[in-house]
Amino acid sequence: MGKVKDPSLAEQGKTSYEWAKNHMKILTNTVNRLKRSQPLRGIRLGICLHITKETSVLIMGAKELGAEVSACGANPLSTQDDIAAFLDENGINIYAWQGQTTEEYDWCIEQMLSHKPQILTDDGSDCHSKVHGKSKFSSLKIMGGTEETTTGVIRLKALANQKKLRYPVIAVNDAYTKHMFDNRYGTGQSTIDGYFRSMNLLFAGKRVVVAGYGWVGRGVASRANGMGSKVFVTEVDPVRALEAHMDGYEVLPMAEAAKIGDIFITATGQTGVIRKEHILKMKEGAVLGNVGHFDVEVDAHFLLNESKSVKQVRPNLDECLLKNGKRVYLIGKGRIANLVAAEGHPPEVMAQSFSNQLLSMIYIAKNHKKIGKKVITVPQEIDTQIAVDALNAMDVKTDKPTPAQIKYAKSWG
Ligand SMILES: NC(=O)c1ccc[n+]([C@@H]2O[C@H](COP(=O)([O-])OP(=O)(O)OC[C@H]3O[C@@H](n4cnc5c(N)ncnc54)[C@H](O)[C@@H]3O)[C@@H](O)[C@H]2O)c1
Repeated sequence: MGKVKDPSLAEQGKTSYEWAKNHMKILTNTVNRLKRSQPLRGIRLGICLHITKETSVLIMGAKELGAEVSACGANPLSTQDDIAAFLDENGINIYAWQGQTTEEYDWCIEQMLSHKPQILTDDGSDCHSKVHGKSKFSSLKIMGGTEETTTGVIRLKALANQKKLRYPVIAVNDAYTKHMFDNRYGTGQSTIDGYFRSMNLLFAGKRVVVAGYGWVGRGVASRANGMGSKVFVTEVDPVRALEAHMDGYEVLPMAEAAKIGDIFITATGQTGVIRKEHILKMKEGAVLGNVGHFDVEVDAHFLLNESKSVKQVRPNLDECLLKNGKRVYLIGKGRIANLVAAEGHPPEVMAQSFSNQLLSMIYIAKNHKKIGKKVITVPQEIDTQIAVDALNAMDVKTDKPTPAQIKYAKSWG
């Protein structure tokens, strides 16, 4: 028995779970294909992911493949309480509710770990980091883990570089069928959704500043552009900056962008991207938010603690009256806006990401002894299999190379 906000929401959660499941054919087809062989039989799985309707399909799928699952959220504000109640009712040891304090968030991760997981699946690596940083978890016998997002992979690679990584981890984020779809198309759409729900203002005609032109930033820029916004991009990487320029966006430093933007969206995974000196230059009414993993990209501390006044004007939208007399608006306290102010990625996108997760967990279960204590990418055969499954699920047919083409591709003369 775990801890959720309101167990009576389970029925509503079941309806949301079924809706998501019906749109996650890639994942359900994978579960159905593997059900007979029970590849996760008897394995204790620890899940630290955003507790959304899509995650419930992954968790129930892992359970169908034989796993015993414990779970907690990967962010204090992203849990869907009906889904947590549904999972609780279905025998998952779940510790998650929306609107946690930092202490409660930490407590939930520790409760999940108290079930002694053998495989750990994380999003952002708060959980992996706890297992490595706290001596009370040093006795856990972990076969290996998986990691969902860019920021988490960076943290794990830092651990591996310092030779402190205790078990093999598959960087699910690095699968092409993950970052290409999830980070780009998923975040692209759900970011716009989160901004709509919190501010309900028009994107058309607005000047939208996107910080970071990586997989997430490209998706966000393209969707904002499609909504009729004029898109500006800030970057630190010359190649990415060049790509943004050639894609038709205006590239400029944040110090300049701050003066002209109506809407700001950070997607860098870095800290201190929109700082006090930028905020003080912003126009009256500017809206700021972040879709990078952690709430470190926009200086939310300055906005929420050093403004003349702060007033919540809509769900997930704070009006900050600055000491210079201007009002600027902050979405979701600077936390991952597409999950805090909306529901995260659509199910079709998560079906792909979570098929990568599920097949990676199975890969760890089978191969953990021979991988070694390092971060590896998703094996190519899994990436390819998921692309095939995705095309089948969407009923898209492709050509196959002819024997002559295969021969031609191998020739050199
Ligand atoms: N919101 C979501 O649902 C979601 C989904 C996937 C990933 N993420 C997170 O989003 C972040 C970005 O992920 P990604 O896959 O696009 O990473 P990425 O590495 O592909 O791109 C990040 C980009 O930001 C740029 N950058 C770094 N510092 C910068 C700065 N100070 N100013 C401007 N640009 C800067 C980098 O040069 C890079 O091009 C990560 O934190 C990741 O974990 C969020």
